Amino acid sequence: MFKVNVDEPTIHELFDLTGKTALVTGASGWLGSSFSRALAEAGATVVTASRDAARARQVADTLPTPKSQTHHAVALDQMDGPSIDKGFADAVKAAGQVDILINNGLDACAADITSVTFEDFARHQHNNAGYFILARHLRDHAVQRNAPANVVSLGSMYGQVASYPDAYDPGRASPVAYHALKGGTIHMTRHMAVYWAKDNVRVNCISPGPFPSPAAGKDLVTRLATKNPMQRMGKPHELKGALLLLVSEAGSFITGQNITIDGGWLAW
Ligand SMILES: NC(=O)c1ccc[n+]([C@@H]2O[C@H](COP(=O)([O-])OP(=O)(O)OC[C@H]3O[C@@H](n4cnc5c(N)ncnc54)[C@H](OP(=O)(O)O)[C@@H]3O)[C@@H](O)[C@H]2O)c1
Repeated sequence: MFKVNVDEPTIHELFDLTGKTALVTGASGWLGSSFSRALAEAGATVVTASRDAARARQVADTLPTPKSQTHHAVALDQMDGPSIDKGFADAVKAAGQVDILINNGLDACAADITSVTFEDFARHQHNNAGYFILARHLRDHAVQRNAPANVVSLGSMYGQVASYPDAYDPGRASPVAYHALKGGTIHMTRHMAVYWAKDNVRVNCISPGPFPSPAAGKDLVTRLATKNPMQRMGKPHELKGALLLLVSEAGSFITGQNITIDGGWLAW
């Protein structure tokens, strides 16, 4: 006997973020600004975070308001514990609640395998400490509210495979401290997902392949394209769909996962 389940949510209901609030770190960046737009377009109130409060405000002011939502802005430095605590508290104060955290900011380390110092390497790992403390703030806030919550952190294909030495300029590899960082981001995601599943907090990771900003060197981009099955770089909007899947009810049974979006880089 054929049975039709008329009670299931529609696809539009599953992806709708109306009534949700999302905090986005690094919202002024190449990918972070696109993530912020994606969340706003789906109906969420967005709290943009930057190390600079005025810059965060500028980004918030560019975001769409299809549900007449009001976007907010906070100052937050993810390399500094007290700034993380204050930034998260300010986000809750401004928006009344936070349901979604996008751990996207990156305090970069330019030094590579030949030149990185102990201090450079160790400092770079503070980015993951920031991602974790922010995620725990969200988990504690959600438990206190008896509400579900969602964390998406930015990993990288370079948290999963080494870079090709011949794709980079001689004497300037992709930074080893970054490879250590992003491998840690992906695995930390699994750990948080397991421990917080009972709290109704889902934790996932998006790992972009090559998505260089227009500031990237042309020769490097050309060399990187030859290493990719699709022979091109990703565009920020090509991450929007995966982000929405993970943070919305459409992804309600997805936790502890890492979705790699790389034009097939990891496939060969
Ligand atoms: N683009 C790619 O090809 C690619 C590939 C794989 C993974 N990813 C990951 O995707 C994320 C975004 O990358 P992106 O290319 O968009 O980088 P981006 O344009 O350089 O943006 C990074 C943002 O991080 C913020 N930031 C820097 N230091 C910070 C700190 N101490 N605390 C909080 N925020 C800080 C900056 O904002 P303020 O200056 O306003 O604070 C900046 O806008 C990163 O986690 C990166 O590792 C990117």
